[in-house]
Amino acid sequence: MRLDWLAGPGGPLRGGISVPGDKSVSHRAVMFAALAEGTTRIHGFLEGEDTRATAAIFAQLGVCIEAPSPSQRIVHGAGLHGLRAPAGDLDCGNSGTGMRLLAGLLAGQDFDSVLVGDTSLSRRPMRRVVDPLTAMGARIDTTPEGTAPLRVRGGQRLRGRDHELAVASAQVKSALLLAGLYAEGITRVREPHPTRDYTERMLRAFGADVREGGGWIALHPGRPLRSPGRVDVPGDFSSAAFFLVAASVVPGSDLLLRNVGLNPRRTGLLDTLREMGADIAVLHPRESGGDTVADLRVRHAPLHGVDVPAHRVPDMIDEFPALFVAAALADGVTRVSGAEELRVKESDRIAVMARALAALGADVEERPDGAVIRGGAPLRGGAVDSAGDHRCAMALAVAAQRAQGQVRIGDCANVATSFPDFAGLAVDTGFTLRVAG
Ligand code: S3P
Repeated sequence: MRLDWLAGPGGPLRGGISVPGDKSVSHRAVMFAALAEGTTRIHGFLEGEDTRATAAIFAQLGVCIEAPSPSQRIVHGAGLHGLRAPAGDLDCGNSGTGMRLLAGLLAGQDFDSVLVGDTSLSRRPMRRVVDPLTAMGARIDTTPEGTAPLRVRGGQRLRGRDHELAVASAQVKSALLLAGLYAEGITRVREPHPTRDYTERMLRAFGADVREGGGWIALHPGRPLRSPGRVDVPGDFSSAAFFLVAASVVPGSDLLLRNVGLNPRRTGLLDTLREMGADIAVLHPRESGGDTVADLRVRHAPLHGVDVPAHRVPDMIDEFPALFVAAALADGVTRVSGAEELRVKESDRIAVMARALAALGADVEERPDGAVIRGGAPLRGGAVDSAGDHRCAMALAVAAQRAQGQVRIGDCANVATSFPDFAGLAVDTGFTLRVAG
């Protein structure tokens, strides 16, 4: 069902909120718990469409998963060789993480399976996982364009090998390490830039033999996965990001975001916003599940444009829609380069954000691998399209708070994939935002 928002202009943002659980960690917690021996209690699980799709797929694969209360799951692990052949297709919905990690995991099973997704996911490139998995001995068919549905043939003998990745992608790295659990010999992965390391760290917490050295991540197979008993999912930095930008750009704002995961491979936007002049304090940092979690206090501050260093792109890969908004409202020029991956996310995020911000009066010049944003022009009201991309929709709702008139944001239903209660929490903090009638 199509859902449009009417947003802005808005006043100061105040109060305190807890953002929902981390999407990357929630996906992996369910997957690894399903493959482990023993029972795993997951606390802080993201109740989003993407992560629920992953949980539903493991239920189809015969894993018993209880949901005793919202944000909790109890997963009764089936063990590495305990999954059952599914009766039908496995629907990953909108989730690239779900589909790519499952491709690796299912390549090692002794049954066939078919991974399908929604229109957006069915357009996204899958050869980046299928080709290296094929080199390990997997058999996976795609469409001629290299897209889903993915038909994964079971019963193949996988062989560990060395993979030098061309793209910095935690999803590809994770898919190969998961296939490596089922391979003969060692599976090694080298990334062009380090990416989020939840798979390595969580696999280790589940007892897998994952080693690192000389730029390689090596999975030595042969050990069963064993449940650590409990997994605590931190708040999702990528969901907090919209509020970090919103409170920075709306005068008079003073907002507290509680329990935000600060994995260093995720917090590039924090560094970038601070370089732009943002006032963000990290309060009460603490350890949780091997990662730092903290509360973030963000107060309005005048922002200025910066050059985002290309090496930082993987550390803020999901935050560019929010960054584009900060840049449009900052004084001076912001340059983004080395970010061509943005074109193959849930939408072409460079094109979608450039078009939408330009429609509001911003000066955004698209580049093949980024954009040049000349900030400071006043934003006007109008109609923009999020192209069904959850992060573009939320970023545009932030931009609307500083517009001079109301903004109609089209196609926002997919916000439910990562942040179902965004609109409710946003309104609690002072956003002007409602569903169009
Ligand atoms: C993710 C990795 C990133 C990110 C996505 C989640 C993950 O994708 O954009 O939202 O959980 O591994 P890529 O691996 O395609 O960069």
